[in-house]
Amino acid sequence: MTDVLEDNVDEGFWSPQAERERDDPLRPAYHFTAPSNWLNDPNGLIQWKGTYHLFYQYTPDSPLGGLKHWGHASSTDLVHWQDHPIAISPTPGTSDEDGIYSGCAIDGDGAPMVFYSGIQGPNQLICRATSDDRLETWQKDPANPVVDSVPDELDLLTTDDGTTHYRDPSVWREGDTWWMTVGSGITGVGGTVLLYQSANLSDWNYVGPILIGDANQREPVWTGTMWECPQLFPLGNKHVLLISVWHERKTHYTVYMVGTYRNQRFTPEHTEILDPGSFYAPQTFQDEQGRRIMFGWLREQRDRQAMASGRWNGAMTIPWELSLGDDRRLRYRPVPELQVLRRDHRRVEHLELGPGHATMLPGLDGDTLELDVRITPGAARVVGLILRRSPDGSEETRIVFEPDNEALAIDRTRSSVDTTGDRERHEAPLALADGETLQLRVFVDRTIIEVVANGRVMLTERIYPTRADSLGVGVFAEGGNAIVERLDRWRMTAG
Ligand code: FRU
Repeated sequence: MTDVLEDNVDEGFWSPQAERERDDPLRPAYHFTAPSNWLNDPNGLIQWKGTYHLFYQYTPDSPLGGLKHWGHASSTDLVHWQDHPIAISPTPGTSDEDGIYSGCAIDGDGAPMVFYSGIQGPNQLICRATSDDRLETWQKDPANPVVDSVPDELDLLTTDDGTTHYRDPSVWREGDTWWMTVGSGITGVGGTVLLYQSANLSDWNYVGPILIGDANQREPVWTGTMWECPQLFPLGNKHVLLISVWHERKTHYTVYMVGTYRNQRFTPEHTEILDPGSFYAPQTFQDEQGRRIMFGWLREQRDRQAMASGRWNGAMTIPWELSLGDDRRLRYRPVPELQVLRRDHRRVEHLELGPGHATMLPGLDGDTLELDVRITPGAARVVGLILRRSPDGSEETRIVFEPDNEALAIDRTRSSVDTTGDRERHEAPLALADGETLQLRVFVDRTIIEVVANGRVMLTERIYPTRADSLGVGVFAEGGNAIVERLDRWRMTAG
């Protein structure tokens, strides 16, 4: 491990953010990316004595993934991040020698404590480590794994390589009792979330599944055969369960359920896909102000060769604050701290859009932007925004709302003249109430488009324009007139 670190220092491994962006027009400027190489899930999110800590799944020596560590960054404002040395690395000959997989951080009776999945060959078991107020160096519990076998009364999903899928602990406290959930799947049935109980954080008793999914059920959404990164937390007067859907070695999307948690069982009352785009494996935490904040992993959608030749891979979403609507659906709000990045505000008001042509908005262009747009779709069949358009139109990305189909999508068919990246269309259901305007909160960061529509529908995609002049911003309507009531745009400076 030390060798890897030292090798990378010479290549600018610990470079500051500004250095990271040098010469790489694809690298997000204000979304968090690792100093170099592979990043996946956010881990161990916590605010400790005022400072926010973001740990993340990290392969320090390859842009394509591999042996997983926990990378580490901290921030006092959720916007500007400072890199720290790798927090936790695999220890050869132990229960985590083949990887430090995802997990959580808690205040373990006054000391920072993390729980993670230790990987050793086909075994995925629960380990823990403690630290001091800097959260930089971690002492693994010599008794690891603290949960040293899977519950034998269940037939947990085991793949042909012998791996029993059982990982991603999430721990919380209720009174004097500690609870932990672990993601898994039951053979021939579906994904599940297993519950454990402890009085001292080191001895854990298996309680049972809080919920078992049905892999044969397509409605309201398909939830695969195994659930990664489950997290159960209270929100408003309900509980939310996040699960990330895994099936046959592939990750799919994250599903959220809002429901009731009683007697160690979770009963969903509303279930939907959180974001059908490139978003996966989110984690939330409650900060010192009591806000429930979520980060998700934004996967690359470049082809393998492009990823192999890149110096970095994967990004985090911006921090989103979650709340619960009266309709038992999540609401997403960008944390207000992000507003420090705003520069050069422009506003367009009451712009009528005729059907069939695009209106470009000169002076609003850029590739690191925030937009807040309100549109009355009127008679339009399709209405939306154009982003990252080249002057000759050979590259452009469209955020598309189709009122009749009640669908929001990001059209990437012409995002890049390089056709090797993923262009699949992912639709998020979006139904507007009578008289409701379409409201789009959009964060553009070079290769990231993050959209929240009407506070309740999230959709994120990755795009890879090739041209430096693919910066144009516009609006369009098809099939009828629409009105842009107001469009606010800011340039976002680097985080
Ligand atoms: C989700 C996931 C987790 C696992 C980690 C490994 O993306 O597969 O289940 O702990 O990533 O990096």
